[in-house]
Amino acid sequence: MGNNLKRIENLIDNDKLPRHIAIIMDGNGRWARKRLMPRTMGHRAGMSSLKTVVMICAQMGISVLTVYAFSTENWRRPRDEVDYLMSLLVEYLHKELNELDQNNIRIKILGDYTSLPPKCQQEIEDAVLLTTHNSGMVFNIALNYGSRNEIIGAIKNLGEKLLSREINIDSITEEMFSSMLYTAGSPDPDLLIRTAGEMRISNFLLWQIAYTELWITDRMWPDFTKEDLLQAIWDYQQRDRRFGGLNK
Ligand code: FPP
Repeated sequence: MGNNLKRIENLIDNDKLPRHIAIIMDGNGRWARKRLMPRTMGHRAGMSSLKTVVMICAQMGISVLTVYAFSTENWRRPRDEVDYLMSLLVEYLHKELNELDQNNIRIKILGDYTSLPPKCQQEIEDAVLLTTHNSGMVFNIALNYGSRNEIIGAIKNLGEKLLSREINIDSITEEMFSSMLYTAGSPDPDLLIRTAGEMRISNFLLWQIAYTELWITDRMWPDFTKEDLLQAIWDYQQRDRRFGGLNK
């Protein structure tokens, strides 16, 4: 195991790292069920994987890491589970904030967090404010996030600007549209990792992943390790990204 990690570490080309990695952290519930534990324990174990992955990405020099922590659809889960996820978020930000800040990480939130419990909103605002001037990795946490909802928000915003004649229709470009999304200012993801084997996108960054390389593993999120992350990066580096063109 240790040897394999070393081997992959040596294989990775540090000049060709993905600038932006996005992750759908799936499988916490299944991980717990397999161990006859409540689903919430799977989320707690998932938080531990998240801690590890954030620090590794920051130390490797990844520019942007985006994780899907809570979707607009996740409100449909049992109340207890939703409450637990919210309390884990508070716990995570509370316990990790200083270390994230010391590592020059800037925290941003993708999604409308104003409908989260007041305690969460407070913790989020503290974290975003404290790290706002950090110049290292941008750590995007998607919370109450849904990509279609994000796109509709941008369209409404554009509509208002058109009606008020702040812009005209010809000034609408892909770049301009991108700048109206939560991810404004960040490059599109180069690599999207999904754990727990599901072959779908689940309303995550639909606009932003037009040319993203997808990497899906059967590993459940709580079991995801540094070795898995490096394997994903190495596999990504072997891909031939043509962006619709031909290779050289
Ligand atoms: C999907 O697993 C995971 C989630 C809906 C939540 C992700 C949350 C964490 C990793 C916890 C830590 C996050 C923060 C920001 C503190 P699932 O429950 O859908 O798993 P299943 O498909 O096996 O049921």
